[in-house]
Amino acid sequence: MKRKVRKAVIPAAGLGTRFLPATKAIPKEMIPIVDVPMIQHIVEEAVRAGIEDIVLVTARHKEAIENHFDFNYELEDSLEKKNKNDLAEVSRAVGKMCNLISIRQKMPLGLGHAVLTAAPIIGDEPFAILLGDDLIDSTVPCTKQLVDIYERENASVVGVMEVPADEVSKYGIVGGKMLDPRTMHVQNLVEKPAPKDAPSRFAIPGRYVLSPTIFECLRQTKPGKGGEIQLTDGLQLLAERERLLAYQFDGTRYDTGDRLGFIDATISFALRRPDLKSGVQEILRKHLERK
Ligand code: G1P
Repeated sequence: MKRKVRKAVIPAAGLGTRFLPATKAIPKEMIPIVDVPMIQHIVEEAVRAGIEDIVLVTARHKEAIENHFDFNYELEDSLEKKNKNDLAEVSRAVGKMCNLISIRQKMPLGLGHAVLTAAPIIGDEPFAILLGDDLIDSTVPCTKQLVDIYERENASVVGVMEVPADEVSKYGIVGGKMLDPRTMHVQNLVEKPAPKDAPSRFAIPGRYVLSPTIFECLRQTKPGKGGEIQLTDGLQLLAERERLLAYQFDGTRYDTGDRLGFIDATISFALRRPDLKSGVQEILRKHLERK
């Protein structure tokens, strides 16, 4: 049965230890790229793909994310009284952006387990998954590229990018048969393989559109790498039951969970802002001259 993709899951239960001390008292998802929290960039990608129901899988101390996607009456009212309607609207627009539905992952048992936590809200529908450490900049949002394939092919699809051999151990890697230069029929997947065990150099940077069968697969998935229930292992079971595709999406991906990736994203997003571009260029020039 063909069905529209209306919901997305964003796992956001992690402790963010890679970014300490910044993440000691605030969720890592609230760290901004320029002035927009990382999680808002991710939600905007889902919304631009036509998705309005966002299922946030959270943990303790993540309330700031829920507040961010709500109205802040006090702030918005006081801005209006000061005739700062533009700023009031900036705040309100985030409140109107999506329906945020949050559910807690009560134990840190892995990404596959986090996705399974969302099963009661997703039900029997296809859905997207977006991981918050991966920022993808593209004209057509990466999730939209995958949703279009899901709806056309009626098959689950993961976004992939080619990585150097020495980086395959950072990702879930797919293997299978190429159907065209960008699309693969996936037959096997390995979570963070050693270069010699990788079935290809196509890595999944955190974008998926899946059929609800993934939930049955995840229920059967045993703890894998790191003793955690891995989404990649659940996808292996899915690939054995249904057609699973991998699509080499158009776009630039930033690993914002890594310090240098985060700085790269910050500079790149700042340079695209007409209000900041020349100021940022000047700062960069000054620092490079100083060396
Ligand atoms: C997770 C997934 C991995 C995926 C990666 C993308 O790993 O387990 O399959 O390729 O995200 O960022 P993590 O980076 O959370 O360890």
